[in-house]
Amino acid sequence: MQREIEKTEVLWRTAEAMVVEGKGILAADESTGTIARRFEAIDVQNTEDNRRDYRELLFRSEGLEEYISGVILFDETIRQQASDGTPLIRLLVDRGVIPGIKVDAGAKPLALAAGETVTEGLDGLRERLIEYRELGARFTKWRAVIHIGEERPTRYAIDVNAHALARYAALSQEAGLVPMVEPEVLMDGDHDIDTCFEVSMATLREVFYQLAHQRVDIEGMVLKPNMVLSGKAAIDRAEPEEVAEMTLACLEHTVPAAVPGIAFLSGGQDDDEATLNLDAINRLAVDVGAPWELTFSYGRGLQAAPQQAWAGKRDNMARAQRVFLHRARVLSAARMGAYDPDSEEERTGA
Ligand code: 13P
Repeated sequence: MQREIEKTEVLWRTAEAMVVEGKGILAADESTGTIARRFEAIDVQNTEDNRRDYRELLFRSEGLEEYISGVILFDETIRQQASDGTPLIRLLVDRGVIPGIKVDAGAKPLALAAGETVTEGLDGLRERLIEYRELGARFTKWRAVIHIGEERPTRYAIDVNAHALARYAALSQEAGLVPMVEPEVLMDGDHDIDTCFEVSMATLREVFYQLAHQRVDIEGMVLKPNMVLSGKAAIDRAEPEEVAEMTLACLEHTVPAAVPGIAFLSGGQDDDEATLNLDAINRLAVDVGAPWELTFSYGRGLQAAPQQAWAGKRDNMARAQRVFLHRARVLSAARMGAYDPDSEEERTGA
């Protein structure tokens, strides 16, 4: 009994630390296939050494821990060593940054549902979670993907994805790891913001129903949702103020106040958009008295700029680290609703 109480407290404390004021999370858990696409864009070969060098560059950035509370790693990375032999995970832990691990096996075509996916990876998950905890992970991530389109999403796709998310979350908590529950409604398409609002509402309702049903302690988790946005190809895309209103309205109707924090994904927004929307959400959150911390858990929104600056060249490493820290600092300000785009320092990264 005592052990169970201690485990619960560890989950709560970890979840709170992940969403602590002024900081957010770096999603550096691109699978080998996803990082291949990112590297291709900057003409870098997708080798194990290049992946290691790139992630080492990020994790060694001086002062990272001022803005970044945790980093989500990929299976390869949590086992990898830096060029001097130090385990990459040590670079984070030594600076008080919490290591997390992506544990899903990706979104796969959903049977009998054209154009929809279900996230796989539950088989053998209990054993993998025990190993990840031993390797030093303190939280986990599972991404479900919901597609908007003609007759999509179906109720079927929402239900099976929510069910799998809750099964994963329960297993994570059993292993003493904080689940980062990520139901991503994709921004691909030309739909309007109202459609995204409705689909996000339906998705989050089912996710929280399943989490409760499967006995997940929602005080010991972090939600990683999409913002409520117009589709990427929509003609008249909503501005940050409307995004903030719709996103907070959606979350207020679906996410219990007991959840300690919400860490948004960037999901293909460009850097400005990902910054301005997060800032607008946090400004409005103060006015409406939102009960949760609202921060970032960005992959592309943090890494696109340093990837461009690095381009696989050793000589560019220091500059790429400066660019990365600049993105982290700007997002840390936006996460507090205190981003000032006119400030010279924020614009230039000087
Ligand atoms: P993006 O911020 O690039 O959407 O990545 C976040 C993430 O972890 C997706 O699973």
